[in-house]
Amino acid sequence: MPHAVFTPIGTTALVTGASSGLGAGYAHELARRGADLVLTARRGERLADLAADLAATYGTVCTVIPLDLACPGAVGELVSDLGTRRITVGTLVNNAGFGTYGTVLDSDPEREAEQVALNVQALTALTHALLPGLIHTAQTTPGSAALVNLASTASFQPVPQMAVYAATKAYVRSYTEALWYETRATGLKVTAICPGPVSTEFFAVAGRTTSSFRGMLTVDDVMRTSFAALDRASTPPHAVSGRRNALLAGLCARLPHRLVITATGRLNRPAG
Ligand SMILES: NC(=O)c1ccc[n+]([C@@H]2O[C@H](COP(=O)([O-])OP(=O)(O)OC[C@H]3O[C@@H](n4cnc5c(N)ncnc54)[C@H](OP(=O)(O)O)[C@@H]3O)[C@@H](O)[C@H]2O)c1
Repeated sequence: MPHAVFTPIGTTALVTGASSGLGAGYAHELARRGADLVLTARRGERLADLAADLAATYGTVCTVIPLDLACPGAVGELVSDLGTRRITVGTLVNNAGFGTYGTVLDSDPEREAEQVALNVQALTALTHALLPGLIHTAQTTPGSAALVNLASTASFQPVPQMAVYAATKAYVRSYTEALWYETRATGLKVTAICPGPVSTEFFAVAGRTTSSFRGMLTVDDVMRTSFAALDRASTPPHAVSGRRNALLAGLCARLPHRLVITATGRLNRPAG
């Protein structure tokens, strides 16, 4: 029987990229819902501050594991650390990710490789390593286990000036939706979250101004979309955050592809 409300009480959730933005938002909501947490990202001090805040606010047991997930071997290190600590992860939020802005011709190939390593390879390896534990948790405590992968509205069409980023997010959504189907009989809630532009550190990291965006989402908006999806008896394969974003994502599938790419290219031209 599919379980409606997502109740991770007494289980452990791992959030990657918890040191800012959406990752910190997921950590807060998961802690509020009674999960213990494993927090990872590169900035250990920020994770320690968040852990102290969650412990004081919700009594959450937090484990902080600072790591650069784009480094070869980092996912193996994380999984082995969890094993040593005897932590079974019941919910995985693959949130760590970044984008770059500029043409392919002008891009730094090392930075693009790092983007693929984090957004695609680390997410895939971590999902594969933790999936048996997620499914075990879903089966022993129905309604308590989830896999949430951060895609984007960039997953619905190619994005000129953010070619690698959009391609990584198309991968994340496609991979997650296939997994949604493969695990549908297990009780694990699987979904790809697709926000449009959100006010976080993302655009500063990408080196892109946000002046051309109308009505950016907040972290709270994305949390509402994410947990509404998880609270459904039949969690959707993906959930788009923002009504206008959902409308545009739907249009992308219906309009001629050449027109969609051209319009996206115009919208993403450098300012000035
Ligand atoms: N903001 C948006 O408009 C938007 C829209 C759609 C989808 N998303 C997706 O949402 C996710 C979260 O982004 P955000 O908006 O919250 O951006 P953010 O504030 O820049 O957060 C990104 C997180 O990823 C972590 N991270 C970056 N590189 C890492 C690495 N090599 N190893 C481990 N952790 C790393 C960062 O921590 P450290 O720097 O401490 O490592 C940070 O915690 C990303 O996957 C992004 O693609 C964002």
